[in-house]
Amino acid sequence: MSEIAVLGAGYVGLTTAVCLSSLGHSVVVSDVNHGKIASLNDGKCPIFEESLEELLQQCIEESRIRFISNNCDAVKDSDYVFLCLPTPEGELGEADMQFVLSVIDEVRTHLRSGAIVITKSTVPIGASADVFKRIGRDDVSYVSNPEFLREGTAVQDFLDPDRIVIGSTSDKAASRVGMLYSRISAPIVYTDPISAETIKYASNSFLATKLSFINGLASVCEVVGADADEVLRGMGMDTRIGESYLRPGPGWGGSCFPKDTKALLMTSDARGFDFGLLRSVIDANSRHIDRISQRLNSMLDKESDDRCIALLGLAFKAGTDDLRDSPAVEIARRLHRFGISVRAFDPAISDLSRWGLAEEIRVCGSASEAVQGASVVAVLTEWPEFQQIDPSSLGQLMKRRVVFDGRLLLARRDWESAGFTYVGVGRQ
Ligand code: UGA
Repeated sequence: MSEIAVLGAGYVGLTTAVCLSSLGHSVVVSDVNHGKIASLNDGKCPIFEESLEELLQQCIEESRIRFISNNCDAVKDSDYVFLCLPTPEGELGEADMQFVLSVIDEVRTHLRSGAIVITKSTVPIGASADVFKRIGRDDVSYVSNPEFLREGTAVQDFLDPDRIVIGSTSDKAASRVGMLYSRISAPIVYTDPISAETIKYASNSFLATKLSFINGLASVCEVVGADADEVLRGMGMDTRIGESYLRPGPGWGGSCFPKDTKALLMTSDARGFDFGLLRSVIDANSRHIDRISQRLNSMLDKESDDRCIALLGLAFKAGTDDLRDSPAVEIARRLHRFGISVRAFDPAISDLSRWGLAEEIRVCGSASEAVQGASVVAVLTEWPEFQQIDPSSLGQLMKRRVVFDGRLLLARRDWESAGFTYVGVGRQ
């Protein structure tokens, strides 16, 4: 099997490396963080990702993966070099290529002849030309192979994807990269690099558009008296619309949708096309977050000293401990600015100091602890365990019984039977 180097052991790099190794390839991973490399060699996974640690340990036992802190050593015997480096949001909203380009400068003369350099992390549309120029070698090819991994289900998404996208100007390099995935049964879209890069931004931006529409529609349901759950069930059965990405919530967030929608807007702007629809999609999301914050504020009794709200969930979605661009956190910040005391429980979060949020949110060890003395409890992340909460016991700890179901997760009748006033996103 082929020798693969993966440069960067972040979320994308690690998932890519472990999954490629589990497909039978021999993989070497390099990262500048020595502490991370040491713990990975011990089989400890530094990120919260379903089944990744088990797979990592299995690959280590079978000697198909190793971790080092030297990019040049990693690439020197590798046929394939995956660049999985951070591409953070740049000053103007574009993905910043500085880490990718500086690693290329470091390794370019160490690449073996015939090697293929592959970008996996999200690079700006058109970056392929810069990358290829920067590599500056006729005997090395370049392929764009964007990732479509959701946090929390990344392993499943890698091993059982809807499609694999491979963009290259070299048919030979493209089909060699396609061979790496021969054990995966999924269609492969072979295309040029710019189209491959665009597919990535287009997919995330389209899903965000769908969600902004759905969240807007949820607000319509609230004002006309319809139930969003029923409306979306009826809509989703139309196969042209489909059932996925149709759940209303407190807004969309995470490390990808906000960054990628902004980047696509900025790229189209820079090339002279005003993608007004996408601009509205982004604005609508931030207005939706404002609206939910105001709705929660209005649920407090202004006549009394009712100033405490308990939040269930802080992560941007269930199955992750990631708070980046989390709508729940944005709502907590707005509530704090309204002078409301915010107590929160999230099964994956025990400390907020590394997120710089300790002043705005008091993190609690359980739902019962979070609701102590609160008048309103709001579900903002769809952790399935919140469905198991006994509303009667929770209600006894609260000052008043008001629940806001920000994910349409709870059994309304049970909460109402326990004396709660129930309010939901997309519901009156
Ligand atoms: C997203 C894409 O789904 C992946 O395909 C892509 O590879 C990844 O970004 C990336 O670019 O790396 P992720 O950020 O993990 O994955 O999150 P999603 O599961 O897509 O959820 C994004 C947001 O939409 C979350 O805030 C989630 O709560 C929200 N959402 C999703 C809803 O509110 N309702 C839904 O029905 C689905």
